[in-house]
Amino acid sequence: MPELAAEAPKDCALCPRLVSFRAANRTAEPSWFNGAVPSFGREHADAVRLLIVGLAPGLRGANRTGRPFTGDYAGELLYQTLLEFGFAKGRYEARPDDGLTLVNCMITNAVRCVPPENKPLPAEIAACRPFLSERIGSLPKLVAIVALGRIAHDSTLTALGAKKSAHPFKHGAGHSMRDGLVLFDSFHCSRYNTNTGRLTPDMFRAVFAQVKQHLQGLPAR
Ligand code: URA
Repeated sequence: MPELAAEAPKDCALCPRLVSFRAANRTAEPSWFNGAVPSFGREHADAVRLLIVGLAPGLRGANRTGRPFTGDYAGELLYQTLLEFGFAKGRYEARPDDGLTLVNCMITNAVRCVPPENKPLPAEIAACRPFLSERIGSLPKLVAIVALGRIAHDSTLTALGAKKSAHPFKHGAGHSMRDGLVLFDSFHCSRYNTNTGRLTPDMFRAVFAQVKQHLQGLPAR
């Protein structure tokens, strides 16, 4: 599958509202990345067993740095947890050149361009879904997906052709998809969710412990 189909072009023109927001951000902060943020871990796509699906780049995080969750408040808990469970190695220093690498893991977003107020519209989620579908389809060893939040969960189900009514979003749930692929749900590791206690670091760790257990129970492919 061509790499291009799984990644939006940096200047993707599919969503007029996001294009205008990008133009305004580029004027205000010309040194920032300000483009569709590519998935992290593409260089080892053939070895990826776990795909993490976030919502969309944060304005001052991934939209600034060009790497998912990097420089975002949400990235602190995500990368710390990935390091703890062996899905990443190195040090997370909130910049794309910190040398951190992912291990059998890739991070992508349901929507690749930063939306105003972190809220993509349904039409924008739908317009970006073909990239998510291709991303999923381009990972031959994929056996686990962690959806961060309901939007990522719903978009992933649609990308997989699965029914939302059969797989309601629930933090900590694991939904069996095709060919041994399991979709795990977590509340998004956003500042709001962690500050309000909706998601604690232990609740987040428990999701990755389940993922680890699932991966360990499967024969290597
Ligand atoms: N940064 C991302 O890249 N994705 C999110 O969902 C949140 C922050």
